Amino acid sequence: MTATILDGKAFAAQVRTRVAAHVGRLSAAHGLVPGLAVVLLGDDPASHVYVRSKGKHTVEAGMRSFEHLLPAETSQEQLLTLIAALNADPAVHGILVQLPLPAHLNADLVINAIDPAKDVDGFHILNVGLLGTGQKAMVPCTPLGCLMMLRDHLGDMSGLNAVVVGRSNIVGKPMAQLLLGENCTVTLAHSRTRDLAAVCRSADILVAAVGRAEMIPGDWIRPGATVIDVGINRVERDGKKRLVGDVDFAGAVQVAGAITPVPGGVGPMTIACLLANTVTAACRAQG
Ligand code: GUN
Repeated sequence: MTATILDGKAFAAQVRTRVAAHVGRLSAAHGLVPGLAVVLLGDDPASHVYVRSKGKHTVEAGMRSFEHLLPAETSQEQLLTLIAALNADPAVHGILVQLPLPAHLNADLVINAIDPAKDVDGFHILNVGLLGTGQKAMVPCTPLGCLMMLRDHLGDMSGLNAVVVGRSNIVGKPMAQLLLGENCTVTLAHSRTRDLAAVCRSADILVAAVGRAEMIPGDWIRPGATVIDVGINRVERDGKKRLVGDVDFAGAVQVAGAITPVPGGVGPMTIACLLANTVTAACRAQG
C-alpha cells in the first residue's frame, strides 16, 4: 500500500482563492485594502525568489505589496527606522522581515520592534507568548500551513502521538504548541535526541523540520502515520539539481498513511498562510 499524497499546491490555491474573496468583500464593504510590507536585506538569490513570489501572490489576492530591498550593510538603526515608519503607516497591515538577517544585526531586537498587531510572521515575543498560553496570536505561517493540512486530512487529532523533529523558533517550537492545542501528545525531538528512530516510530503524526536532506528513512515511520515534510533542501543527484525534503520520500511513501511531497507540499502553504495572516491583521486593525 502506498501513502495518500497530500497536495499542498492545490490546497494552497484553495486558501488563496478564499483569501482573495475575503479581500474583495473588505474592499467593497469597507474600502479596506490589506497591505503587506516585506523587508529583505542583501542579495541571497533564494530569499529574492521567496520575496518576489510573496509580492506576486499578495497582488494576485487583491492586496497591496510594499517591497523594501536594502543592501546587506544596512545598519540596525536604519532598519529600526524603517520598521518604525511601517508600524506607523496605516496602509501597511502586515510586516515581514525576511530571515536570516546579516550577522551584524540583532534579529531578536529587529523582530521585537515590529508592532505585534502587524507581525504576520508571528515571531514577536508577544505573539510567541500568546500562542504558548493558548491565546489568540498571530501564528507563524509554516506551522499554520502544516496544521491546516493535518486538520484537513485527519480531522480530530485528540490523543494522537505527534513527533516534531527540529526545535527552531520558526517551525519546530510553534508546531509543537499548535499540536498541543489539538490535544496531541507531543514530543519535540532534535539533534541531541537519543534513539531518534524509536521516537519517530512512535509517531501517528510526524513533522520533519530539520533542514537535512532525506535524513529520516522510511523504516523510521510507523505504518499508516501522517508525515509532514517541512524540509526544502537543494541537492545534486545524478548531475541534476533537485529539491528534496527531510524525509526519504521514496521509502516513506511505502509505509506512511499520508505524506506531503517536496516540492508541492508544505512550501506553497506558507505563502497562502502569510496572505491569510495579513487579512486577519487588517480586519483586527479595523476593529
Ligand atoms: N525565512 C525562512 N522562512 C521564513 C519565514 O517564514 N519568515 C521570515 N520572515 N523569514 C523566513
